Amino acid sequence: MELGGPRCAGLVLLLLLISCGQGRGADPINIWPMPKSVTSGKQTLLLSNDFVLNTQGSKYPDSSGILKDGFSRFLQVLRASHVADSNSSYSSAHFPVCKGLHVVILSPNDKLQYGVDESYKLSVTALGAVYAYLEANTVYGALHGLQTFSQLCHFNFKARVFEVRQAPWTIIDQPRFSYRGLLIDTSRHYQPLIMIKNVIDSMAYTKLNVLHWHIVDTQSFPLEIPSYPKLYAQTRGINVLAEIDVPGHTQSWGIGYPSLWPSTDCQQPLDVSNELTFKVIDGILSDFSKVFNYNFVHLGGDEVNTNLCWLGSHYELLKKKGLNESEAYQYFVLRSQEIALSHGYDIVNWEETFNNFGSKLSRKTVVHNWIGSGVAERVVAAGLRCIVSNQDKWYLHYLDTTWQEFYMNEPLTNITNPKQQELVIGGEVCMWGEYIDGSDIEQTIWPRAAAAAERLWTPYDKLAKDPRRVTGRLAHFRCLLNERGVPAAPLNGPGRVAPEEPGSCYKQ
Ligand SMILES: *[C@@H]1O[C@H](CO)[C@@H](O)[C@H](O)[C@H]1NC(C)=O
Ligand SMILES: *[C@@H]1O[C@H](CO)[C@@H](O)[C@H](O)[C@H]1NC(C)=O
Ligand SMILES: *[C@@H]1O[C@H](CO)[C@@H](O)[C@H](O)[C@H]1NC(C)=O
Repeated sequence: MELGGPRCAGLVLLLLLISCGQGRGADPINIWPMPKSVTSGKQTLLLSNDFVLNTQGSKYPDSSGILKDGFSRFLQVLRASHVADSNSSYSSAHFPVCKGLHVVILSPNDKLQYGVDESYKLSVTALGAVYAYLEANTVYGALHGLQTFSQLCHFNFKARVFEVRQAPWTIIDQPRFSYRGLLIDTSRHYQPLIMIKNVIDSMAYTKLNVLHWHIVDTQSFPLEIPSYPKLYAQTRGINVLAEIDVPGHTQSWGIGYPSLWPSTDCQQPLDVSNELTFKVIDGILSDFSKVFNYNFVHLGGDEVNTNLCWLGSHYELLKKKGLNESEAYQYFVLRSQEIALSHGYDIVNWEETFNNFGSKLSRKTVVHNWIGSGVAERVVAAGLRCIVSNQDKWYLHYLDTTWQEFYMNEPLTNITNPKQQELVIGGEVCMWGEYIDGSDIEQTIWPRAAAAAERLWTPYDKLAKDPRRVTGRLAHFRCLLNERGVPAAPLNGPGRVAPEEPGSCYKQ
């Protein structure tokens, strides 16, 4: 099969276009993730060789160039390695020509924040229309609309033109969840900046909107507060959720400040009795607050082995305050939460904090589920918000977990009360860094993260109840990622497999 997948060959298509379309029944709609509402037809439009952006009537001034740059990326991705023939025998005499995209954005504001309006409407009419039309409340909705439009455009290899098939299109779209995350971990292996940027770009293709950056951990402390990656992400509509994981997972902190270690031979969790510990956390969060503008900061709090270095009576503070080691864990987390709140953040904490002292957590806490089932259910019943990342289904380094399992993992399982459902703000797939580096991070993430992305974007009643119903469409999207230079792995088999045999991309 050809990459562009033309249904009929060359000039013959000029004559047979309509019958080709009709003879095969409804053509599949190959958009990933599936929009909230979509209708299509059977006509073909050509894209003008000088396809332009028209913003007449838009209220968004685009002074930071987010829309303009998004449109340039759209053209780049589309044109990739294709050269259109301006003298193609396909001509405007036979097909309507679409001269550009008319984008109208209703809000002048481009502050990117949790809950920002990401909706858009896209229409491509087939007859007499010179511009496709995209309307959105914010520029971030418009970026999603551009991504969808890019999936409607194809290169016709025979005629050497870009075309939109199945017009007219009417798409009305908005996400199901406001938090659609992907975790990367820059502590366990070095992740080159270019790979992080690639990941951010491919997140935008699949409409994920939060890069959870697990920056530091036991093994290293690669933190310099660089503002650049964050700005890069923002122009693509992606929030950065920065994490400092305390008090466990912190051995590396003491390389620079040994007094943060409880002792030289017992190096984590952080020394809860040392005021410097909280000064350093305050300093880091103060720096974060200048760079990371997302509502939330992630304070970790997982896998704290309180029996390790906090035992015994040699801790002044524990003695003075009459705390035992599990109370010291609570004290640490709550004090760190207060520091984060003082810098204007709401807090995300891993689920152990909730499991151990849920009723004590700040009401501004979002509990990040990762271990077990039933946690989200208990969190929202307690009136707190929750992000779902259960490791049995949404941890990418478990290569045995198939894309089908990623697709079917439902964040609202067992949660029926609508008020409680609203407290599940979304979900996140996690690419922990122990077993990947720049050589294979992308094919470990894709296409399985895309399967979860549809779960988080598409309305529940439009999600497939059986993943076999979306195999063809996901395969199509996987091939599209490959065309765009993203090394997304084949769908046959579990994570990160190689193609089984020669053949079409769509069959792997
Ligand atoms: C298109 O055709 C015209 C007239 O035949 C010719 O002058 C021109 O060079 C052609 N352009 C390309 C890009 O082949
Ligand atoms: C710590 O003290 C609390 C009571 O204040 C108690 O419930 C808990 O079991 C104690 N934990 C340990 C590990 O001793
Ligand atoms: C949903 O509830 C069932 C029955 O109580 C339980 O077996 C299952 O583990 C729950 N699933 C999740 C994801 O909480």
